Amino acid sequence: MRYLATLYSLLCLATLAFGSGRSIIRSRQATVSLDSIQSNGLQNIVTWDKYSFFINGKRLMLFGGEVHPYRLPVASLYLDVFQKIKSTGMNVVSFYVFWGILEPKRGEISFEGFRNLQPFFDAAKKAGIYLVARPGPYINAETTAGGFPGWGSYTAGLWRTSNQSYFDAYTGYIKTVGQKIADNQITKGGPVILVQSENEYSSWKSPYAEDKQYEQRLKQAFIDVGITVPITTNDAHPNGHYTSVDVWGYDSYPNNFDCSHPTTWSAAAVPENFWSAHLQYTPNIPNAVYEFQGGAFDGWGGSGYETCAILTGSDFERGMGLSIISGWSFSDMILSLLQERNCHVYDLFESLHGVYTSYDYGSAITEDRRLRDKYYELKLIGQFLAVSPAYLTMRPQNIGSSQGKFTGNQALKTTQLLDVVGNQTAFYVVRQTDASLNSAQKYTLTVSTSIGNVIIPSIGGSLTLNGKDSKIHLVDYLAGTTALVYSSAEISTWETIDGKDVILLYGGTGELHETAIKTSSTPTVVSGSGTIKTKSLSGGVLAIQYITSGQTVVQLGNTVLYLLDRANAYQFWSLQADTTSIIVKGGYLLRSAKVEGGTLALTGDLNSTTSFEIIAPSAASQKVTFNGVNLEISKTAYGTLTAKKSVTLPDVKIPDLTTLTWKKADSLPEISTNYSDAAWTTVNRTSSINPTAPTTPVVLYAGEYGYHTGNILWRAHFTATGSETAFKVKVSGGAAFAHSVWLDSTFLGSWEGDVLHANYEGTYSFPAGRLTQGSAHVITILQDHMGYEEDGQSASDKFKSPRGILSYSFEGSSGTKIDSWKVTGNLGGENYIDKTRGPLNEGGLYAERQGWHLPGFDDASWVAGKPTEGLASAGVAFFRTSFDLNVPVGVDYPISIAATNSTTNPYYRAQFYVNGYQFGKYINSIGPQKVFPVPQGILNYQGTNTLAISLWAAKATGARLDTLKLQLTAKIESAMQSIILQPAPAWSQRKGAY
Ligand SMILES: *[C@@H]1O[C@H](CO)[C@@H](O)[C@H](O)[C@H]1NC(C)=O
Ligand SMILES: *[C@@H]1O[C@H](CO)[C@@H](O)[C@H](O)[C@H]1NC(C)=O
Repeated sequence: MRYLATLYSLLCLATLAFGSGRSIIRSRQATVSLDSIQSNGLQNIVTWDKYSFFINGKRLMLFGGEVHPYRLPVASLYLDVFQKIKSTGMNVVSFYVFWGILEPKRGEISFEGFRNLQPFFDAAKKAGIYLVARPGPYINAETTAGGFPGWGSYTAGLWRTSNQSYFDAYTGYIKTVGQKIADNQITKGGPVILVQSENEYSSWKSPYAEDKQYEQRLKQAFIDVGITVPITTNDAHPNGHYTSVDVWGYDSYPNNFDCSHPTTWSAAAVPENFWSAHLQYTPNIPNAVYEFQGGAFDGWGGSGYETCAILTGSDFERGMGLSIISGWSFSDMILSLLQERNCHVYDLFESLHGVYTSYDYGSAITEDRRLRDKYYELKLIGQFLAVSPAYLTMRPQNIGSSQGKFTGNQALKTTQLLDVVGNQTAFYVVRQTDASLNSAQKYTLTVSTSIGNVIIPSIGGSLTLNGKDSKIHLVDYLAGTTALVYSSAEISTWETIDGKDVILLYGGTGELHETAIKTSSTPTVVSGSGTIKTKSLSGGVLAIQYITSGQTVVQLGNTVLYLLDRANAYQFWSLQADTTSIIVKGGYLLRSAKVEGGTLALTGDLNSTTSFEIIAPSAASQKVTFNGVNLEISKTAYGTLTAKKSVTLPDVKIPDLTTLTWKKADSLPEISTNYSDAAWTTVNRTSSINPTAPTTPVVLYAGEYGYHTGNILWRAHFTATGSETAFKVKVSGGAAFAHSVWLDSTFLGSWEGDVLHANYEGTYSFPAGRLTQGSAHVITILQDHMGYEEDGQSASDKFKSPRGILSYSFEGSSGTKIDSWKVTGNLGGENYIDKTRGPLNEGGLYAERQGWHLPGFDDASWVAGKPTEGLASAGVAFFRTSFDLNVPVGVDYPISIAATNSTTNPYYRAQFYVNGYQFGKYINSIGPQKVFPVPQGILNYQGTNTLAISLWAAKATGARLDTLKLQLTAKIESAMQSIILQPAPAWSQRKGAY
């Protein structure tokens, strides 16, 4: 997967910003010289200057994540994901639109079923999240053909250039999808604030180079359809490509994609030259990082997403993310899409080339919408940025000369970020000089402040940077009316509540920290076991030294300091109830706060009995409810509220799949002697525009006949000369594909697949004596299509790389001719049948063509048989069962299908269909995916569900699933909105099905 990583540098975006609903500029409105504000002249709601974006004239930092609606096909779950993102302090989400599933047949664009974008726009708006639309037309995204439609594979002209044929191909799509996006722009009351043109248009196959006419035309196409918000693009690296957009930016994946070595970091992962690149190419716009590593994808045979979650875990978020966002490499960030990309989410299709059937990405929110630890770390960053407006107008002062600076410790780099507009606040970002090291570094920080030069800590001792970490130390930071002259402990958030500035300061467990405040009051520890040391500095400033461990609360005058270790800091949520700011400690997730007539109504999710601490104006919290239930509140000695809430996690019965009644049918009637392929597509093309020139008499690329996904079957009819000994065939299917070959009804052999081969040439011997002279035979080949290659390098047309048969010959008889070839994939090909579940849901297996995977099919006449019993010979069997679920409302209990690896009978692949939706492909010998989350809404949690499984055994000994079960992956009491079942049309007789 490394090669993928380098090749297509990455793709996931992470955007984010914060706080559409909250007041971003609280402490101090930075002075803005209005004549420096720029716009694209088409609207004046989304504008920018060289520091940041403005929305409706308000400066804000965009900080957010990436969500792909097509990977989460349950519209009523979008709000859950957006709310979870919003609660980190982020304010924007970028999303790809996948052309290939919207226009699978040229000229016929459909938004049916989960492809409808409107619920996604609506949910974002409801959650208060801005959107950055990324409609391509090329998206990469580890998606088949990088998002291009399958028919592109036989459409002439170099794609991703100004070629007219390509222009003609994308024009209809851009018009139609552009219109939908245009209708949902902020200028029309919608959530869309930016539209990205192309995606990582950053490298070209020689002799081609950046095609400025293409860039110009594409940008104009968006404008022509009514896009008035700024147009952006993401260069794969900060190399100055496509800078003619309104707000250019770039991507960065500092930790790469080697999830199998999740603790190995490169020494200089994020070069400091990002900032210089920004100054070189676009000094007058915000420094935008449109994708910043929120996780990593994992490929077939990979190490699994939990390892990617380690590679890009909390220490990565701090060590790389915090650094980057804070100027290690660039500074003023701004549309800084940093982390969180919650990309993932499921994927309906086995259509991704290279990656398996999950896009969990190891991100902060898992594929089944659980919160990883890194979510809580991210929240510390998001909440901090949301209350630190000085950050928006800072500039790094010592790029390129940060080693040893301010600390005297050569093992550390420190960048000074000064707010050059407000001229008060400074941020000092400290990190390891060698990012790969895990050492603990002691240091003191010598900085200039409003009271002159100070050495922090000034009470003695030293600060520590513990391993893969970085810190943002603050100088002259205003929190309400509290002036922090400096703080080595970081701020997770602060709010002014009932006239008191409540400031949450945190550090690693056991670390020494010091915070200096202008005050005439004497600090008192009002709660917790921590102790403080104090020292008066000049200018009426008091330094307070403490160890961050547990939670200690210190009061001095109108300032309340919470001194927290990281684990405690994770538990705090900053919530906004209209104009009232509230801080709450406790809960797996807090979603919202509302104040009505003295009652504070909180909503959120719990995974255990929880003790809350609530910091809210007393007039707004006479009573407190959680998810509508009254809390019994007590007051702490220092005036905050506490309450306990027991969790309700009802037991539910999860059906045991192995004891259900299963039905079984053969799904490979094609190898029976009397099978007729008359209704199949005749293979008759004799030429192709494909860059891979055909070498066979007729073109054997499935795409030429409209088959672009899933299982593909070929039939070759021939008359034997009598001297054939074997059939040699080179089949292309994409990494991890397989193929099996039969002569008439006799199994000849298989290529079982591995992670290296996108195509494979096998030689399959004929049984001796079978091919007598003049006898008629048919060879049947079953292969799978793992998705088209991406087209990361422009002008390569690599996405057209064929799937199908590249060459064949008869050993022992060069004169044998194939009389006729037939092919089938999914029923109807580009005229796909299932408009609700979309064009990639089904492939060409007999069972799929007949619709046996759909609910409502009558399998009464089938024999009994379980996937755990399998089949006894090479071939394909199809299994069906149904089960009831009865999961009460008010909980979020994600469910997965789980299989285990077989070592005794390793070579098989299975596809899972839940209520007709394909939810994964399991390749036993390659892996690593064994767990296939199926979202509520596809699964009916209060009713009957149909589970269907195809099982393709690639060896004569057959195969079976060793185990198969449904499992709960979490039990959470939840305030998520109630889930509406996605439409799951039932089986009906398919016209012309063969
Ligand atoms: C901030 O400081 C810079 C450099 O010292 C100066 O040029 C600028 O005028 C100052 N701005 C304000 C608003 O004081
Ligand atoms: C609840 O969630 C938190 C945060 O993810 C986690 O640390 C904790 O282990 C979970 N508790 C239970 C009982 O699952």
